Amino acid sequence: MCGIVGYIGTQKSVLDILLNGLKKLEYRGYDSAGLAYVGGDTFVYERVKGEVKNLEEKIKKHDVKNGIFQVGIAHTRWATHGKPDSINAHPHRSGDIFVAHNGIIENYSSLKKELEEDGYIFASQTDSEVFAHLIHREYVKMKRKDLSCAVKEALAKVEGAYAIAVMCKNNKDELVVAKKNSPLVIGIINSSIGNSANVEYIVASDVSALIDYTHSVIYLDDGDVVKLTTTGLKFVQGEERGSEEIEYTENGAILHEYPHFMLQEIYEQGDVIKSAYSGRVNARNGSVVFDELVGILPKLLTARRIVIVSCGTSYHAGLLGEYIIEQMAGIPVEVEYASEFRYRDAPIYDDDIVLAISQSGETADTIAALQEAKRKGSLTLGIVNVVNSSIAREVDACLYTHAGPEISVASTKAFSSQVVILLLLAVMFGCANNCLSKNSAKRLLTDLEQLPDVIDSYIKDIDAKVAKIATEYMKYDKALFFGRDTMMPIALEGALKLKEISYMNAQGHASGELKHGVIALIDETMPSIVLAPKSKLYKKSLSALEEIKARGGRVLSITTEDAVEVIEQSDDVLIIPKIVEELLPLLSVIPLQLFAYHSAVVRGLPVDKPRNLAKSVTVE
Ligand code: M6R
Repeated sequence: MCGIVGYIGTQKSVLDILLNGLKKLEYRGYDSAGLAYVGGDTFVYERVKGEVKNLEEKIKKHDVKNGIFQVGIAHTRWATHGKPDSINAHPHRSGDIFVAHNGIIENYSSLKKELEEDGYIFASQTDSEVFAHLIHREYVKMKRKDLSCAVKEALAKVEGAYAIAVMCKNNKDELVVAKKNSPLVIGIINSSIGNSANVEYIVASDVSALIDYTHSVIYLDDGDVVKLTTTGLKFVQGEERGSEEIEYTENGAILHEYPHFMLQEIYEQGDVIKSAYSGRVNARNGSVVFDELVGILPKLLTARRIVIVSCGTSYHAGLLGEYIIEQMAGIPVEVEYASEFRYRDAPIYDDDIVLAISQSGETADTIAALQEAKRKGSLTLGIVNVVNSSIAREVDACLYTHAGPEISVASTKAFSSQVVILLLLAVMFGCANNCLSKNSAKRLLTDLEQLPDVIDSYIKDIDAKVAKIATEYMKYDKALFFGRDTMMPIALEGALKLKEISYMNAQGHASGELKHGVIALIDETMPSIVLAPKSKLYKKSLSALEEIKARGGRVLSITTEDAVEVIEQSDDVLIIPKIVEELLPLLSVIPLQLFAYHSAVVRGLPVDKPRNLAKSVTVE
């Protein structure tokens, strides 16, 4: 994971660019941060444990004046090798060489041994420090003539994934960047000073860190090694190419009247659902049109199977997609953890579609799964939130969710937006193959258009009640979640939310699995959250609830007001408004998101940045 930002130029404050960039990239990890920069007589090298704000506090005093050569690199970390600590924070140093790295060096043990034999002393427990010493060794061998060539030579010895930014303290007019299986983008700022042209570069793990300064970018490809100076850039390895202009609007990433981004994002879900379907549905004639799919529609509509690859919450959206698409369009759907799919050599046929779902568009396993699908010749689709992200650029067609920036590590609004897109795909496929009648499509789309208002008022109504129940459940340190049919993925999602931010031991299960083992866990110390609305499998859900009660388990049920028996038998109840069955998951997930949120708040935990996690998992 980790976020990298770098700058070379004469016109801006290197410190501002590095710190602003790091703040934008903190979603990639926040256990330690560091930077190194030179400009004029100033040299700063600082690393701290914890968030970027700790780094900012430490180095405020050392700014460099504009108009002189400045080069700097910075890093925000999510630990892979070596504990979260300032000593393991990047940039890593070897003499006058500084390196910021995102990725994992797989052969680092053998490289480390070799470097130690050559006299290099390792200061950290990281794999990344290997880069610093390797590059230093090559640089010295080349009599310090060419940093970019030293980087290229060093990279030839490395196995694994990397995005790196490299600078030399004694060479203020060179910054070298390279990439393999971890993203890196170069932003270009052209300006003229007097009669001479001037160029500045900002490099970053994603465009959010440079978009305030330029929209002109080059996305690095695997194998690229690029040398940046204030007179231009050179591909030392990889295909020379020009920049592209990107469109990127950032909105909504400001915390308004809410105490945490997670709560704000839960409350945004009505609007987010609207953004996801807007411009794509016509409820009056029951049609769904995705402009993004026009060129590939004939191939899409003859697909024999859809294989969904994703992780975490996006995987749960995919599971729900399986139920929805199979039920509404009769097309077989398989849902795979991207981390499994990428290695298990699953058969993929010419008429399969592989659909990657990802909020960030940067999840390493999902990218790799997608690349595997492409290698096998599949048509690929993406449901992605972050515009221009790696997955968005990798797929044949990308359906953006338009959920706006999701800051909280625990995903909420992105999930809802993904589910809406999956619903729309189900309607589109179902109408095309006559599995879904026009009338059913009209009814569903009409109800979908009413959902944002229903959700807005529902969240307001239920929030305080959920907070009260979460306080009451504070005495437990574990919980089980159960659901059937489309409520099963919601049960899994509810459990994931709770464990992520409250650190409670939470497990989600299909209710039907209760008696196949999980029931052994039930006693008065184990509460169960049972999703049992009055829908298709209501009676079955009721039986599961009765089995839990018979063993002394406490039950909080999420149900509709007409579910009289469930309400009678439950210890605690959260009612969801009655709505067409296909849309129930979008409502029933809300009390679970709020339950997780309030459980974390009452425990005094850092809701938006839970321990050990990062917003975007950019390593395996
Ligand atoms: O960005 P992605 O949707 O690809 O991320 C996938 C998971 O890492 C993500 O959903 C994770 O599980 C969240 N923290 C869940 O809240």
